[in-house]
Amino acid sequence: MVFKDGEILSIDNDSINIKWTNQTAVSCYSHLWLRDNCRCAKCLHPTSRQKLHSSADVPLNIKPKKVEIIEDDAVFTWNRPLRHGQENGTHVTRYPLDFLKQYQSKTSMDKLRFNDVRPQTWNASEYIMNWVSYDEYMKTDECLNTVVQGLYNRGLVFLKDVPLKEDSCTKVAERIGPVQETFYGRDFDVKNVAKSVNIAYTSLYLGFHMDLMYMDCPPGIQLLHSLKNTVTGGASIFVDSFRAVELLKEKYPEDYRILKEVPVTFHYVNNGHHMYFKRPTIVTDEIHSGPAWDSHVNYAPQFQGPMDDLSPKMARAFYGAFQKLADFIEDPSLRYEITLQPGQLVMFANRRVLHGRTSFDPTSGDRHLKGTYLSLDSLKDKFRVLNARFNYIE
Ligand SMILES: [Fe+2]
Repeated sequence: MVFKDGEILSIDNDSINIKWTNQTAVSCYSHLWLRDNCRCAKCLHPTSRQKLHSSADVPLNIKPKKVEIIEDDAVFTWNRPLRHGQENGTHVTRYPLDFLKQYQSKTSMDKLRFNDVRPQTWNASEYIMNWVSYDEYMKTDECLNTVVQGLYNRGLVFLKDVPLKEDSCTKVAERIGPVQETFYGRDFDVKNVAKSVNIAYTSLYLGFHMDLMYMDCPPGIQLLHSLKNTVTGGASIFVDSFRAVELLKEKYPEDYRILKEVPVTFHYVNNGHHMYFKRPTIVTDEIHSGPAWDSHVNYAPQFQGPMDDLSPKMARAFYGAFQKLADFIEDPSLRYEITLQPGQLVMFANRRVLHGRTSFDPTSGDRHLKGTYLSLDSLKDKFRVLNARFNYIE
C-alpha cells in the first residue's frame, strides 16, 4: 500500500512495517503500541491531550482487521475492544501519517524531544561572554530563548542592568519557571555573617562546588544577583565540569569508570536539619550522545559526609580517581573568573557548571548577592517549548 511519504510493506501478527521514503531502514510499529496510542477523542481527551485508558487495557492479541490510507491518515479497524472498556464491536483509529512519521526511528523520536541538541563544553578561553540586557530578557521571548539556549549549551549566562531590588533575582527566575524553594527560603542572601551556618556566608575562599547535592532533586539552575560590591576580592569563579570529565575520560578512563560507580555521601547536618543523599560523582554515558540533562556531575567537596561501606581497596581507587578529577577542575585553563558588579546577574546550570568564590577582605567594604534556584524541569520545559517556536527545522 503506497502513499505520499512511504509504503506499508506488511502487516504481521504483532506489528506493521512501514518503509518511509526519507529513510533506508524499515520502521516497525507494534499493534499494542498503536492501539494504546489511538488519537481519537474516546482514547485521548481532546483538550487536555491526556489518555483516557491505561496501557493495561490493551488486549495482548489486538491486531487490525483492516488498514487503509485515507487522505493523510492511516486508518486502522481493530479486531477487538479494549479490556474493561464500555465499547462493543470494533474501534477505528485514524493516525495522521505525520504522527507515525515522528516515531519512525530513534533519531526522529530524539528530535521530537530535542534530545538531538548537544551541549558544547568549554574552557576559560573558549567561553564567550555575551551580556544579555535585563529589559530585553524580561520583554521579549526571543531574548528569553537566547538565555535558555545558553543555559542548555554552555550552562552559564550573564545578565546586565538588572534593577538593584531585592526581588529582581526571583523575577528573572520566574521568566523560566517557578522558583524552586529550599530550606534556604524562596531566595537567599550571600553576605558574610558572623557564626555562619554555611561557608558561602563567610569571606573565606569558597572552592568549586554544586549546591544542594544532598537533596533528592538538586536545583537545575542557580541565579546570583549582585546588589552591592565594594570589597577587595570576592570574584565569582566557574568551571564547566563536563569539560573536566571529558579530560578525565580521555586521559584516565579507569578513573572515569570508578567515579561513575562509587556513590558519594552528601549531607547537611546543621541548624536543625539532617539532609542526606548518595550519588556517584559522574552520571553519564557520553556527554555528546545524549541531551545535556542526561549527564550530571555531582561535586561538592564541602558537603561530603563520611562515605559508607568504603573498603580500603575501594578507598584507594576512589580517592585516586577523585583527585585526578579535582586536578582537572582546579586547572586554571578551565576557570572562568568574573567579579560581579551591582546590577549584574549570573545564571548557571547547577548540575554541570561548578561555582566558587575567591576570598575577600571583609573589612574593605560590603558584598551582597541575592540568590535563588530553578528546577531542571523548568529549564527542560522552556527549552523544548522555545525550540519548537524558534529553532526547530525539520
Ligand atoms: Fe554555592
